[in-house]
Amino acid sequence: AKGAAMVTAVAYRLTDQARQIQETLAEFRLSKSQLLEVKKRMKVEIERGLKKDSHKEATVKMLPTFVRSTPDGSENGDFLALDLGGTNFRVLLVKIRSGKRRSVEMHNKIYAIPIEVMQGTGEELFDHIVHCISDFLDYMGMKSARLPLGFTFSFPCHQTSLDAGILVTWTKGFKATDCEGEDVVELLREAIKRKEEFELDVVAIVNDTVGTMMTCAYEEPSCEVGLIAGTGSNACYMEEMRNIETVEGNEGRMCVNMEWGAFGDNGCLDDIRTKYDQAVDENSLNEGKQRYEKMCSGMYLGEIVRQILIDLTKRGFLFRGQISETLKTRGIFETKFLSQIESDRLALLQVRAILQQLGLDSTCDDSIIVKEVCGTVSRRAAQICGAGMAAVVDKIRENRGLEHLDVTVGVDGTLYKLHPHFNRIFHQTVKELAPKCDVTFLLSEDGSGKGAALITAVGCRQRELDAQ
Ligand code: GLC
Repeated sequence: AKGAAMVTAVAYRLTDQARQIQETLAEFRLSKSQLLEVKKRMKVEIERGLKKDSHKEATVKMLPTFVRSTPDGSENGDFLALDLGGTNFRVLLVKIRSGKRRSVEMHNKIYAIPIEVMQGTGEELFDHIVHCISDFLDYMGMKSARLPLGFTFSFPCHQTSLDAGILVTWTKGFKATDCEGEDVVELLREAIKRKEEFELDVVAIVNDTVGTMMTCAYEEPSCEVGLIAGTGSNACYMEEMRNIETVEGNEGRMCVNMEWGAFGDNGCLDDIRTKYDQAVDENSLNEGKQRYEKMCSGMYLGEIVRQILIDLTKRGFLFRGQISETLKTRGIFETKFLSQIESDRLALLQVRAILQQLGLDSTCDDSIIVKEVCGTVSRRAAQICGAGMAAVVDKIRENRGLEHLDVTVGVDGTLYKLHPHFNRIFHQTVKELAPKCDVTFLLSEDGSGKGAALITAVGCRQRELDAQ
């Protein structure tokens, strides 16, 4: 009888533990009405960012990009492109040919940006960038060419023209000093001058979302939205000039870099943020900022997972109650690990092997729980990202007074491309929350580089016209 009582006690503890774990995860499981609410609030913030009176206080900045049309195939020439702010820093040479046999040919090289450069002084950062360009030009044998350059700089910038962008604030892992409030095109030009080795003509500063949209639009003219679901999260789309009160003029359209990562910074998402989201925020380089991005982008999903695992371990539900040094380490769960852990093809034993690689000793039960935590966190990410996108496509539909809209969204980013479930759940959410829109998603091939070159080509042509 004593044995039976003990078995019952153990079983009870297990079910109670399972219940507590489920209760913890329940906070991450959003209902359709909650998601519709996220969509609605995004719409409100979009309007605030666009309107002159509210723009200053607005969290979703809706920044004008001075890109007024998508490519038409007449773009032509050789361009340099820089890509800063994603997973890698790259320098590219892009050769665009117009006409019947239009083509784009690219050469690129990836360079590391050491963390001490990302978080050092602005001068060091830009000297490093110019050093990499110099190396690339040597490598391509093009030091004397004086090429036009497009700078994909994936951070919020206040633009007053195609080739001027004042950095509003660093996001993601960057924190170089003396850059916020400065025109980054000038910072680049000055660094090129300091080097005294080559000349370049910086024609355009481009957000990665805009580069992605332009790359896809080059193949598919119905593409009028760009999305990045990667290290960071952001979107852009073609907005009516008459709605962009922060730029003169009412004719035609302009691409707006939404900077939707900052959605929620005014507290409007507090009811769905969990204590784990708050912990991630407090642990970050930019506390209080980019709250939506911290719930749905690759740089932070692993951090949310880690916070939950720490809590479950403290409560004795995981890793035999032992919090290892590894678990205390920021950034251990990169997107690629989450993607592996959540892969359906992976047996639990392999999940354990991955955890082992990360330095976490797990039991079979642990690995089941870890996998469920990852799945819950990434599902919520895909859903709230989908709610944001639903607001965007519905806004475009309403702008045009349509009952129904067909639109294409160009997409890039490691989370979207590598994760086994993110894109499916994201698509499904957009479909459910914006039933009056038929949205096609197009993967962008190297959007940041190609898109920057396309925009630079348009910029060069515009300059020639202006000079006439
Ligand atoms: C961050 C940046 C934004 C960029 C996004 C994706 O949100 O602020 O400019 O587009 O990351 O890289």
